[in-house]
Amino acid sequence: MTGESPAGAETGNADDNTKTNTNSQYDFKRMKTSEYVLKAQQLGKQLSSPEGLLTILEGVDLEIRRGESVAIVGVSGAGKSTLLGLLAGLDVPSEGKIWLRDEEITAMDEDGRAALRANHVGFVFQSFHLISSLTALENVMLPLELSGAADASGTALRALQNVGLEARRGHYPKQLSGGEKQRVAIARAFVVEPAVLFADEPTGNLDKRTGETIIDLLFRMNSESHTTLVLVTHDTSLASRCDRILHMDAGRIEREELPGSLP
Ligand SMILES: Nc1ncnc2c1ncn2[C@@H]1O[C@H](COP(=O)(O)OP(=O)(O)OP(=O)(O)O)[C@@H](O)[C@H]1O
Ligand SMILES: [Mg+2]
Repeated sequence: MTGESPAGAETGNADDNTKTNTNSQYDFKRMKTSEYVLKAQQLGKQLSSPEGLLTILEGVDLEIRRGESVAIVGVSGAGKSTLLGLLAGLDVPSEGKIWLRDEEITAMDEDGRAALRANHVGFVFQSFHLISSLTALENVMLPLELSGAADASGTALRALQNVGLEARRGHYPKQLSGGEKQRVAIARAFVVEPAVLFADEPTGNLDKRTGETIIDLLFRMNSESHTTLVLVTHDTSLASRCDRILHMDAGRIEREELPGSLP
């Protein structure tokens, strides 16, 4: 991680302060790959439907720096979950390229993507996706065991403590409330210290107070572990705490907003 140049250093371009650039046109030649933990270039996704071929993503470019928090917002059906799934290597685009930590995931096969996901990606699904036959602790241990980490149970227990659920470690998902399941899912996603944590509506279906606890937890982990956050959300208070807000509409990123720069 040493020897990285600041943004814009290579070009001598006067517009070094990319943080204030609200124009979402990116110049890929300006980038040094190592500055970005995630990049996408001209992503597109088409799916066949009874009505014929459906374009659900088109011409999506993005660059996300290490440690940034980015919210993806937009109306239902805009393509947010589809984009998140592509960026996390859970699905493949119809066209375009994606790099995660300098590795082009669109050039990898399924096994390569699975290995990259296991080691560098955390994903929190809106529906939690906990394994019902495993306890809270065992659910959190699973990614550690898959990546061959030593002391999976000790590390998983610490992750559960971080989300305030050590007392629930022996509970099965059906014995946990919605907010507790969401916290177990977050502990599981963070336990391998991923480079990027993707979360699809992490506060959806939660009451305001539990939602705020989850948001605080995500940002604490973002600041303590420098985990990059990419969150899909309809929650404006969550979006406004992020460094950047990407607005999607009809399969495209329409514009970018920088919450910190607003009055
Ligand atoms: N497997 C599929 N086959 C056909 N169309 C699909 C499929 N998956 C998603 N779509 C369509 O793609 C579009 C984008 O879906 P996506 O789930 O990405 O939207 P979203 O922005 O996450 O919406 P929401 O806010 O409702 O979760 C939608 O119109 C959806 O109907
Ligand atoms: Mg969605």
